[in-house]
Amino acid sequence: MRTIRTIGEMRAWLGNVRAEGRTVGLVPTMGAFHAGHHSLMRAAREEQDSVVVSLFVNPAQFNDQRDLAAYPRTEGNDAAEAAELGVDVLFAPGVSEIYPDGFATTVMVGGLAEVLEGAERGPGHFAGVCTVVNKLFNIVAPDVAYFGQKDAQQVAVVKRMVRDLDMPVRIEVMPTVREPDGLALSSRNVRLSPEDRARALGLSRALRAASAAVAGGARDAEAIRAAALAELDGLDPEYLAIVDPLTFAPLRTVSARTLVAIAAQVGPVRLIDNIVLEPV
Ligand code: PAJ
Repeated sequence: MRTIRTIGEMRAWLGNVRAEGRTVGLVPTMGAFHAGHHSLMRAAREEQDSVVVSLFVNPAQFNDQRDLAAYPRTEGNDAAEAAELGVDVLFAPGVSEIYPDGFATTVMVGGLAEVLEGAERGPGHFAGVCTVVNKLFNIVAPDVAYFGQKDAQQVAVVKRMVRDLDMPVRIEVMPTVREPDGLALSSRNVRLSPEDRARALGLSRALRAASAAVAGGARDAEAIRAAALAELDGLDPEYLAIVDPLTFAPLRTVSARTLVAIAAQVGPVRLIDNIVLEPV
């Protein structure tokens, strides 16, 4: 595996790949890899001729500078794990390569990007995500880009951007990878104390309660929400929302594919999780 740090070198490598008619898969990441990231890399490795993983802790999408400063940075381990999984290139540019002096352009999605994560983290969050993802798509020109369902709203916003701006890339979404006890894997989990780690289980427990309520015949969003809230065990969620998985519009009754999304501060870490419900 090669580690590439400049856009010029990345394009030169891709030129050879394209000349050979090989397909390219891209896995955008901010590093500190865990089994969730690995699942995206495995999918890309199985389906594409060449696999590029980008590692860039994107300052533009952090609303909290302490969160940015505390974000785990483990490039040495990440590179070893990516190599082990058969990744061809780790694209790990510095901040000034992506945002050179004078950088002045932002890609902003409206509507679904303004609620939940967009409202809690501020309008700059998804603008930061979309701007960097747009740049990565332009630099790598992947056939397929791989994202995790763990960040359900990010997936919906990126898909909206791709459709709205006619970007020639297919978005593939992989299921959320969890610990055996239900906690969704996150690079931020390493900052949870043992006590906070136990409290954090409230998120996935609440989502399972919502799922059980729907399986038991509940269709009223408020009743489903109440079932989920009852399992939070003292955690105070920033939101616990029952929404359309494509538009993120709130739903009053659950009659088709529905997303239950939750965010909560647990100790020093803000955690998010979600589940898709399909009433039958
Ligand atoms: P990051 O948080 O590093 O996540 C990279 C990818 O891994 C995202 O698509 C995310 O949804 C996925 N992922 C994270 N945890 C997962 C889990 N438990 N199961 C499955 N997939 C999981 O998301 C970002 O980086 C950034 O916003 C980025 C898209 C790279 C733009 O900067």
